[in-house]
Amino acid sequence: MTLTQHDIDQEIAAERAAYRERIAEGAPAGHHPRRDYAPYRSSALRHPKRPPVTVDVGEDPELVELHSPAFGERDVTELDNDLTRQHTGAPLGERITVSGRLLDRDGRPVRGQLIEIWQANAAGRYAHRREQHDAPLDPNFTGAGRTLTDADGRYHFTTVQPGPYPWRNHLNAWRPAHIHFSMFGTAFTQRLVTQMYFPADPLFPYDPIIQSVTDDAARQRLVATYDHDLSVPEFSMGYRWDIVLDGPHATWREEGR
Ligand SMILES: [Fe+2]
Repeated sequence: MTLTQHDIDQEIAAERAAYRERIAEGAPAGHHPRRDYAPYRSSALRHPKRPPVTVDVGEDPELVELHSPAFGERDVTELDNDLTRQHTGAPLGERITVSGRLLDRDGRPVRGQLIEIWQANAAGRYAHRREQHDAPLDPNFTGAGRTLTDADGRYHFTTVQPGPYPWRNHLNAWRPAHIHFSMFGTAFTQRLVTQMYFPADPLFPYDPIIQSVTDDAARQRLVATYDHDLSVPEFSMGYRWDIVLDGPHATWREEGR
């Protein structure tokens, strides 16, 4: 039987009620979703069921790199954070500037860190061979970028506003517009992956992925703020989004994927 949005809405409401009950009973606030959050159907299939493989880095600190892929054939260049200049023409869509800081639990900047992003184009389609959404590809938009945080922990991307897109979690399932973020750390095993959303998206209540963060404050931390000072005159709209790596204000991240 195909699940409807109504079915999913009821499951989301039940999860939220159960979370509120746990908090009322004294449980600590949850910044991250459960690994098998039922309304997000494929989450149950994705998370690991066995503990991670232990690598004895005490013996050889570089051993960990033998268990991970290597990324990038070249160093990060100044153009890698501008997704509107990767092709001969300009991509279609509303240009945006996205900037913020990478911070530790005490609000200190995390410098020199590789941040990677990937996103759908303005029509809500990824340039990926397994993409199934019947929306146009943009020959001038790949949708991937990377940069290093500066001395203040700040990152900066120029891109286009991604479109919402359908997925097959249930009938009429649509993802709110978002940009995927990866913070690499110093080794592949430290990599953190999360998503940034845009203010006041009407799809928030219907989306089991953002709703899998059942804590209201933690969920709100995934939403960027429109920042007029970041908007570039005659060019782009500005959004600010800080990423906090841990502590009570940690940004939600996808675990075990
Ligand atoms: Fe996505």
